[in-house]
Amino acid sequence: MSQRSTRKEEHLALTQMFFNAENSNSFDQVRLLRPALPETVVDRELLAVNWFGKQLSAPFFINAMTGGSEKSKQINQSLGYVAAKAKLAMALGSASILTKEASQLESFYVAREANPDGLLFANVNPLTPAASVKEIVKELEADALQIHLNVAQEIAMPEGDRDFRWLERLKEIREAVSVPIVIKEVGSGLDPISIRQLQAAGFEWFDIGGAGGTNFSQIENSRRQSQIPYLNDLGLPTALAALLAHPLTDKLIVSGGVRNALDVFKGLALGGKFVGVANSFLHFLLQHGQEELYLEIESWKDQLAALMALYGQTDIERVQVPVYLASGLKNDYEQLKQL
Ligand code: FNR
Repeated sequence: MSQRSTRKEEHLALTQMFFNAENSNSFDQVRLLRPALPETVVDRELLAVNWFGKQLSAPFFINAMTGGSEKSKQINQSLGYVAAKAKLAMALGSASILTKEASQLESFYVAREANPDGLLFANVNPLTPAASVKEIVKELEADALQIHLNVAQEIAMPEGDRDFRWLERLKEIREAVSVPIVIKEVGSGLDPISIRQLQAAGFEWFDIGGAGGTNFSQIENSRRQSQIPYLNDLGLPTALAALLAHPLTDKLIVSGGVRNALDVFKGLALGGKFVGVANSFLHFLLQHGQEELYLEIESWKDQLAALMALYGQTDIERVQVPVYLASGLKNDYEQLKQL
């Protein structure tokens, strides 16, 4: 196995080792005001959304994870199957490996084969040459593209990148591809200053990928001889990142540490149009298999429909629930909101 494929498999193993569905995170500091008289009806049909021209059953999706190794091929096949059956959008893991190992194409493409009509995102790092990104989007028949920003992860990785002058590279990619682009973080959070900078450069969609779930600094740290523990705590928590991003854009995706349907609902209440779920779904898949993951996702939809009714909501694209914050989150938000 190549060094890159080995790293992919190590990441898979380590994300599972560190996963703990019981972990508390910033979603727990977000509270919602519930009307005693909501005047609503529980209706799963209300969850249906359209995204980039594709009809989806719900506004949460399977976020970028894997590809580029044998194990990840099986995972992508299963996730593609589940995405098709549940009618959810899905993002593939970083396909930048294809510029070095073209033979790994199949480990990504299996998800498209399993889900020929669904909304599928390709995913690359910002240093992938623009012409290669164009090729990747074409080969994977991707409807849209995620570009991930992962500076904290690269710093924690001994063999990681050390040159982070990425903006021009991002613009080159944008010029080269015709599909919509989402700029995402991978679990350390997108801050409002960077969002504004990216907006000025013409980018529109942002996935805040906040801290509170999968922590790649922790994962890379655990692969090091000598660890740098403070890197594990640099992330901007998901709820805080969402509160800060919401006034800047309505093309907002909330992700990072989504554990259940209530977190999805809170993500929508915080201004997310869509909510990304990565490791909670992967962990469930690896523990229970694809049919069970499908049923779990259907259960999340039932719960989300119930939460909509409970909180008096009828429009999934404009969830407007009075939100109040626990003091720690409120404090942090007060300090940063005028940025
Ligand atoms: C990821 N994530 C990720 N993101 C990305 O943009 N490209 C990638 O290749 C990967 N690879 C990857 C592998 C594995 C095994 C996991 C669990 C995650 C990050 C992912 O999309 C997401 O941003 C973070 O995991 C935070 O979300 P969760 O896991 O807390 O829901």
